[in-house]
Amino acid sequence: MGVRCTVKKFFPIIILFLLTTLVVQGQSFDKLAQTPPMGWNSWNKFGCDVTETLIKQMADAMVSSGMRDAGYQYIVIDDCWQVSRDSSGNIVADPKRFPSGMKALGDYIHKKGLKFGIYSCAGSKTCQGRPGSRGYQFQDARQYAAWGVDYLKYDWCNTGTQDVESSYTTMRDALEKSGRPIVFSICEWGASQPWTWAPEVGNLWRTTFDIRPCWDCGKMVMSNGRLIENFMGFTKILDLQVGLESFSGPGHWNDPDMLEVGNGELTYDENVAHFSLWCILAAPLMLGNDIRNMSDEVQEIITNGEVIAVNQDPLGRQGKKVRDEGDFEIWSRELHDGSRAVVMFNRSEKKEEMSFKWSEIGLPQNLEFTVRDLWKKQNLGKFTGSYSDRVPPHGVVMVRLYHQD
Ligand code: GLA
Repeated sequence: MGVRCTVKKFFPIIILFLLTTLVVQGQSFDKLAQTPPMGWNSWNKFGCDVTETLIKQMADAMVSSGMRDAGYQYIVIDDCWQVSRDSSGNIVADPKRFPSGMKALGDYIHKKGLKFGIYSCAGSKTCQGRPGSRGYQFQDARQYAAWGVDYLKYDWCNTGTQDVESSYTTMRDALEKSGRPIVFSICEWGASQPWTWAPEVGNLWRTTFDIRPCWDCGKMVMSNGRLIENFMGFTKILDLQVGLESFSGPGHWNDPDMLEVGNGELTYDENVAHFSLWCILAAPLMLGNDIRNMSDEVQEIITNGEVIAVNQDPLGRQGKKVRDEGDFEIWSRELHDGSRAVVMFNRSEKKEEMSFKWSEIGLPQNLEFTVRDLWKKQNLGKFTGSYSDRVPPHGVVMVRLYHQD
């Protein structure tokens, strides 16, 4: 049988194989981040001080603290793991800080039942001056896939006159071409209103500049007409999420930045408020604290299964602010079983009686609902028409309303 004859014979099989590969590859990308990604990222607490020992310890802690069982999956190394490119242009991890190499680190993380995340930048350099991916997108994506990377956070420093949408689309295409399903986290700080274009390009997109572990601090520093620093406490970031709810859903999420629970000067009630509101917002839950050494209080907050269930609700509908009376806000989120999650948020300095009506959260006034407190993990009783409670200063009451026929 000649070569032509053999090719002819196997032609249908070859076509079927190619089509199946394409469909399977496409499907695996489509299925990524059906609920907001949950994990840990090195930046908020450790900045550039990242090493393979630290990352391994975080993976160990994610398992031993019960966080993996609570749903946390990704261990993401943010900026500063990379030092140069070799003579073939391959990105090189810092050999002093990551002596075993990234493949070995990825294997370690995978063996723990976790997933491996990494960071790069669309510009020539990262925000900390390390080599960026501009001009190397396909080569980098292939390298990440070979290392077993499952998640890429892609920043926007040193991009000059680059077009934002096409820069991120190039990296999206490079990741898809790599053949490995890699969650794509867009980090251009909300400047180009990414919610208008990013749902087609990435799985999550930052909506603001960086978060800081404080209630309402904020700073914007300009130098020679350039913005060199801009950060905000979590309540300021929260204010900027209003109106973005219609852009997010399964596979594509608004990202109001990583959690600061357990960091800085946040009090217990502020930590609870921050976590509750990020869950109502269907925000990615990327922890930014030292999970090796955390108080029991912080551990209980970040592993509260009933609150996490609101964040991970399969309907994937982002919650929204339904009432704003200055210091007193009501936020509500529709859940897959027809129930509602509601957060009563008290920004004032004193304890306050707050209430909401069913009609404000899209429920019929005359129906009776069981109200469950998600932090006390207790049913509070059956109520018709409205619910009121005492809300701590800088704190929340978070409830879920169930209807039983
Ligand atoms: C930017 C991002 C941060 C972090 C740093 C790292 O500021 O917004 O989340 O990744 O870069 O340099």
